Amino acid sequence: MAWPYAMVFATLYDAVFLWAERKGLRAMRKELLSHCTGNVLEIGAGTDLNIGHYDAGLARLVLTEPEPYMAAKLRAAVGRARAPAEVVEAPAESLPFPDATFDTVVSTLVLCTVRSPDVVISEVRRVLKPGGRFLFIEHVRSDNRRLAKWQDRLRGPWSLFAYGCQCNRNTLETIQRGFATQQVSRDRLIGLTPLLRPLVRGQARTA
Ligand SMILES: C[S@@+](CC[C@H](N)C(=O)[O-])C[C@H]1O[C@@H](n2cnc3c(N)ncnc32)[C@H](O)[C@@H]1O
Repeated sequence: MAWPYAMVFATLYDAVFLWAERKGLRAMRKELLSHCTGNVLEIGAGTDLNIGHYDAGLARLVLTEPEPYMAAKLRAAVGRARAPAEVVEAPAESLPFPDATFDTVVSTLVLCTVRSPDVVISEVRRVLKPGGRFLFIEHVRSDNRRLAKWQDRLRGPWSLFAYGCQCNRNTLETIQRGFATQQVSRDRLIGLTPLLRPLVRGQARTA
């Protein structure tokens, strides 16, 4: 993404999310990340909103992020992680790790923004060990036809404003295409725009 937009986005990101974090997103992050075990990879890690929720007992925590300004914020925050953590600049479509490296892969609010969600899911499967877990919180296309129509109408302008975020993506279908076994609950993202309100969170396992 072009400078200075990327820099402004990275700088304002935590402030924009402040209200949503207070209205429930922080609690959802904490609950999700309590399921991490062993070697953990986070894709599209953003700024630092997940870092404090990772447990000290993890063997390894790798935070990947393709945007240099976001990655710089992560590096500044990595000292606050209780687990041994490192930052790697990489897009989730092309993860620089061998097959079957991780016990857990985490994605929070990322599949809306990546260029190729299906490619990302197949990369996630590739780097997970057999029986490994994919943990996610993602906003999705609404089941409500009226809201879905607004998500379709406003996708273009919203995407320009919000860093490429596609508010009308059916991300749950993408996850379900990639993983046979999933536990999913539906929730609501409060404190941002209604376009992002329909949320799914849960976990999926490799065979
Ligand atoms: C809405 S932010 C979410 C950040 C963070 N995961 C969170 O929960 O707050 C979307 C993130 O996805 C990252 N991103 C964009 N394209 C990506 C890609 N191809 N692969 C991985 N991450 C990407 C962005 O740089 C940004 O950090």
